[in-house]
Parts: sequence; structure tokens; C-alpha cells
Amino acid sequence: MKRIGILTGGGDCSGLNAVIRAVTRSAVIHHQARIIGFEKGFEGMIYNLWQELTIENTRELLTLGGTLLGSSNKGDPFHFRERDADGKVVTHDFSARAKENFEKLELDGLIAVGGEGTLEIAYKFFQMGLPVVGVPKTIDNDLSGTEYSFGFQTAVQVACDALDRLHTTGKSHQRVMILEVMGRSAGWIALEAGISGGAHIILLPEIPFSIEAVLNKIRARDSEGHPFTVIVIAEGATEVGGSVMIQKKAENRLQGTDLLGGVGHWLANEIEDKIPHEVRCTVLGYTQRGGTPNAFDRILGTRLGAFAVRALAEKEFGHMVSFRPPELKLVPLAELAGKVRRITSENQLLQCAEDIGVSLGR
Ligand code: F6P
Repeated sequence: MKRIGILTGGGDCSGLNAVIRAVTRSAVIHHQARIIGFEKGFEGMIYNLWQELTIENTRELLTLGGTLLGSSNKGDPFHFRERDADGKVVTHDFSARAKENFEKLELDGLIAVGGEGTLEIAYKFFQMGLPVVGVPKTIDNDLSGTEYSFGFQTAVQVACDALDRLHTTGKSHQRVMILEVMGRSAGWIALEAGISGGAHIILLPEIPFSIEAVLNKIRARDSEGHPFTVIVIAEGATEVGGSVMIQKKAENRLQGTDLLGGVGHWLANEIEDKIPHEVRCTVLGYTQRGGTPNAFDRILGTRLGAFAVRALAEKEFGHMVSFRPPELKLVPLAELAGKVRRITSENQLLQCAEDIGVSLGR
């Protein structure tokens, strides 16, 4: 294994740099390989943008948020999205060009670090004959095939810290404090942050909520002598019979996915005139994705990166490295397509939340 490529695609996430550093170090130390870091995800393959990674230039990356290589949500070479002169989004198929650029670099393998979209593209290139290994990345923790992906625990900590702070304001002002967190179709951040941050109500995309149940919990707390309530809601949560709140439709975005958001403020408006409390909503947004990874995500990113190099060396192409505690395993990319890892009704954390009196809005 003489030369390998690596790219980071999709939204940024704490721990990406830990993966880049681990890939570089293990490929250099154990294979004396040269590492080509494609810039801006798959865009780097399309436009031949790359930089060579060395142990020297990846030093001190472990603690840094973001990605040294840059990322791009729009860089799907099979449906590359650009705006035309009128600002309309148009798509092109640049996959053949990206493959050709990859082949010209004479790489023995590509490590694609990313979420569902990136791994789906990686799989398509694998089917076209490229030697690809995937590394799972998502703060939402909704990728199937892996129990955890790096970035998630850091996001949970950010949300937990926010809930701690909202508690003090809520209690001081006798308010209902709503925290909207990320989580499109899976509510892992809301659930873990809600339990760790002592939220009284946790609203998840998996369990449509009723306004009445939310009000009942607030009123129950009032009558128990606790006239404030802290609610955490995932951006993809919906009222029973309602639909997901979208800020910007996919067709108007280069990312090609709907930009969610707004359900927290909507909920605040729905309940404020029905209770004797002021209601405030905080949207945590991108603070969950940026910044220094916590120790867990540094370790997981490092393990996944080093394991991906092993997988390439052993020619386990077409696989994603995955974390099945306590071990790392390889999962065929083919098995991941279109599957989202959502919270099931048997999930013990969900049961735990209800056991300790947290309302799930049902
Ligand atoms: O990484 C996934 C995610 O965090 C979602 O929860 C969120 O809806 C999305 O990113 C928004 O990202 P962007 O604005 O970069 O498309």
C-alpha cells in the first residue's frame, strides 16, 4: 500500500481531525504510505484539489474541531449541485471525471469519512471499481451499522451543558424553557442530552407528541410545587398528525436536503397562552457540530481512523468501519443504503426516561 486518499464529506463534526490524524499516522508508520487528502469532500476528486498529509502537518490536530481538509455538502459527483446565473439549482454528473482523477493519482485506496450521503457515494464508487473504505460520521448518531459515531457524544455534552444553564433561568423566572437540538429523523441527541441534563419533557422524531401531554406535564410540575419546566425537542419532532418543520426546501439548497428547524419556537407559541408561564425557546444549532471533541470522540475518531487503514491494507474494500462496543467491526457498505438508525420502542434509555418520570409527550 503505497498511496492512499482520504476525504471528509457532509456536515462538519467534532472528531473529524482525530480521524485524519490517525489515518495519516498509521498509514505512514506501518506502511510508509503517502497520504493524499482531498479537499472539500468529493469536490476535491472532481476538481483535483488535494494536499499531501504527513505526520508533521497533522500534528496537534487531535483537539481541533472542524476538518483540516474542508467539507462540502454539495459535492455529490453523481448529482453535483450548482446555482445557474438565475440562482436556480442545477445538477451535473461528474462521477466519471472524479474517478479518472482518482485513478491518475494511482491511489491504492480511499477512506471516505462521512454520513449517509457520503457513504452512499463511496459505495457507488466502490461499485465502479474504486477501492473504498468508509468511516461513519454523524452527530445525529443515526447511521445504521454502528452503535456510535464520533461527534455525537460531544454534541450531547454541548446540549447537556445548555440544559443545565436553561434550568437556572427557568427556575429563577418560573418559565418554561425549550431547547431545540439537532436530530432529523432520530432523536438520539435529544434523548441522551435530555436524560443527562435533567429535562422534564423530551420530544423525539420517533414519538409524535401531543400538546395536551406537554401541558399536562407542565401543570403537574406546577401542582407539585415546581413552577418551571425544561423541554428538549429534536428539530425533526412532530405533533401527532403534524409534519416536520422545514426552514428551507431541498430543491433550493445546494445540500440537496431540507433544512429543518422551527419546531421549538412553534411549540412555544402553541403552549404560552395556555399556561401561567412565559415560554422561551433556544435553538442550539451549529454549536453542536463545531469545536473541540470530548475525550470519547477523540478516542473513537482515532480508533476508527487507524482501523480504516488496517481495512485498506487488508483490501476489505466496500466496507465501513463500525463501532459495536467494545469492538470495531467491518460492515458492508451495501447493507447501509437507505437505512436510518432510529430509536426503537424497546430502547432502554427511552424506558429509563419514562421510569424516572420524564414525559415523552405521549
Ligand atoms: O449533521 C446532520 C445535521 O446536524 C442535521 O441534524 C441538521 O439538520 C443538518 O446537519 C444541518 O446541516 P446543514 O445546514 O449543513 O445542511
